[in-house]
Amino acid sequence: MEVFKREALATELATKILTVSPTSASSSGLFLAAPRRTGKSTFLREDLRPALENLGALVVYADLWEDRRADPGEVIVGAVRAELASHEGVIKRLARSAGMEKVAVGGMSFSLDRVGLGEGISLSAALAALSDDAGKPIVLVIDEAQQAIVSEKGNDALFALKAARDELNSSRHKGLRIVATGSNRDKLAMLRNSRDQAFYGAPLVNFPALDMAYVQWFCDRLDLGAKLDPAEVFELFKRAAFRPELLGAAADALRFEFGLPAGDIPARFAAAVEEQIAVSNTEQMRVVHSLTPLQSTVLRVMAVRGSNYAPFEAATMEAYDAVLKAIDPGADARVDVSNVQQALSALQDKALVWRAARGVYALEETGLASLMQQEGMLKPVPAA
Ligand SMILES: Nc1ncnc2c1ncn2[C@@H]1O[C@H](COP(=O)(O)OP(=O)(O)O)[C@@H](O)[C@H]1O
Ligand SMILES: [Mg+2]
Repeated sequence: MEVFKREALATELATKILTVSPTSASSSGLFLAAPRRTGKSTFLREDLRPALENLGALVVYADLWEDRRADPGEVIVGAVRAELASHEGVIKRLARSAGMEKVAVGGMSFSLDRVGLGEGISLSAALAALSDDAGKPIVLVIDEAQQAIVSEKGNDALFALKAARDELNSSRHKGLRIVATGSNRDKLAMLRNSRDQAFYGAPLVNFPALDMAYVQWFCDRLDLGAKLDPAEVFELFKRAAFRPELLGAAADALRFEFGLPAGDIPARFAAAVEEQIAVSNTEQMRVVHSLTPLQSTVLRVMAVRGSNYAPFEAATMEAYDAVLKAIDPGADARVDVSNVQQALSALQDKALVWRAARGVYALEETGLASLMQQEGMLKPVPAA
């Protein structure tokens, strides 16, 4: 599929990533945050990666959401192994350093399985060897990086990357930059809080949404039988929370309305975008409306407390009580630690709630809080 290119943005960002000023913390890596479905992954693949390569970097890309069942730690290790596989010289050197003088790479006397977390060859050694061999700095791009902290191995990978960063950014090597994206600022913030992890202190930057230039590009390509005014479409795009798919789906819907007078097309397009927004909202809220009163209660309190949410504190338990009484007055369900715990795991199973390995919770989708707010669902939650 053809996409709108964002070359200028990519070059600017790539330059910043690769330039290390002595006063900046950007050698700790960089976080790009933007809501889901607004074009982060597309930008990384189509624009940022080539821009980094043009500036002389070796890019290793790990998408922690590509396979939701895969352990995030394994995915990061897998991305490094995959890059190694195309550098035979590096494999030989690593094998030698692991004490295997005679290496038959094809004969598999050295297996890439030996590279990894707690394996013979650390991520740090592997990345250093890769960078030295290529004579280039490495940029490790981790898409949906918040997933790294949902598993122990993912956490281990972050520690390993911290070590790798320190090693590669020393004067002996060409450097390692880590660029991470995610859709939820609260979650990404958690990755920056731990002193011994790869992202400690890394700047968190709002990744810019697609802009008027994209809308212009979209309108130019559209073939609906009448021109749309980009300024009007941009307003619709804003209403759609900058999600290109909603514009695309609206255009698809119109394509099959036969015999539509040209003069009606702009208004019909606007209506079709509104329909798409409504469909997307209903879709998101469908699960929410199927929750038990207690699950709904826990979700509402979490939505209001945000990054201050402490699931089992006395004040939170009181908030649950108040909400449950308000939404389900007749019920005799009691709120206690064990049924809150159960509600939390049910919410996780329904992919509404995200849990870090250390027991910190957040809404899976930040946008859900505003939808619940719009429906008045958050009114019963007492102020903290
Ligand atoms: N630059 C672009 N040009 C055209 N379509 C885009 C562009 N960026 C994103 N899209 C479309 O928007 C949708 C979501 O993009 P994606 O990159 O997966 O978002 P995210 O990673 O932020 O969730 C995809 O269907 C993609 O094709
Ligand atoms: Mg993505």
